[in-house]
Amino acid sequence: MALVPYVENQLPFLSKLHNSSVHFRFANHDLRLAQDWKKLGVAAVVWDAAVVMCVYLEMGKVDLKGKRIIELGAGTGLVGIVAALLGGLVTITDREPALDFLSANVKANLAPDSQELVVSELTWGVGLDRYPAGGYDLVLGADIIYLEDTFQALMQTLEHLCSDSTVVLLACKIRYERDTNFLSILRCRFSVEEVHYDKERDIHVYKAYKLPINRDL
Ligand SMILES: C[S@@+](CC[C@H](N)C(=O)[O-])C[C@H]1O[C@@H](n2cnc3c(N)ncnc32)[C@H](O)[C@@H]1O
Repeated sequence: MALVPYVENQLPFLSKLHNSSVHFRFANHDLRLAQDWKKLGVAAVVWDAAVVMCVYLEMGKVDLKGKRIIELGAGTGLVGIVAALLGGLVTITDREPALDFLSANVKANLAPDSQELVVSELTWGVGLDRYPAGGYDLVLGADIIYLEDTFQALMQTLEHLCSDSTVVLLACKIRYERDTNFLSILRCRFSVEEVHYDKERDIHVYKAYKLPINRDL
């Protein structure tokens, strides 16, 4: 599976993705995230969806303090880092090739003795029994709906990680019809509502809960 879906210089508006680092201020902390598009592609740059997710988390509409949180497809780790700074107990995950870069960004932005965040490998649909079934209060994903080949595995992962009370937050750029198709698939097993829209960046934030299994059928 390709990690780099865009060809360099083909899309000038993506030029900011080629900066070697980006700065943000969230949760009263100055954060500096390293980027390396050439080495790791999509997993090593901060996408607008991650920024909008952090803005949404800072609004305080979802309780993070002491909550068990897992982030899927974390990339540089911005969302997980901010969730930890806001008081969550965060497991931040991505595919194996992304982990060293992700860990370095976490180390650069959180105190060395921080207990709030662990980095762990999670390829969607693979080895899910390493993660507690229904064991999280909150599942976060920023810009993780973009590869049709992964949709089934991503659904399987969400179903495994979520109990009926788990909140799923997905920050999405809807680029193609297939992205909307994923939301339709999600609605078969989760109740889904849009809770935030960033007009400037054209990013939607969806909140989802797993639907109870209908045992009457
Ligand atoms: C567009 S990037 C978004 C990164 C980050 N969440 C952000 O918004 O800045 C998509 C992320 O999903 C991860 N990803 C893609 N396919 C995956 C899979 N099958 N299992 C786990 N992660 C995957 C990539 O490695 C990448 O980090």
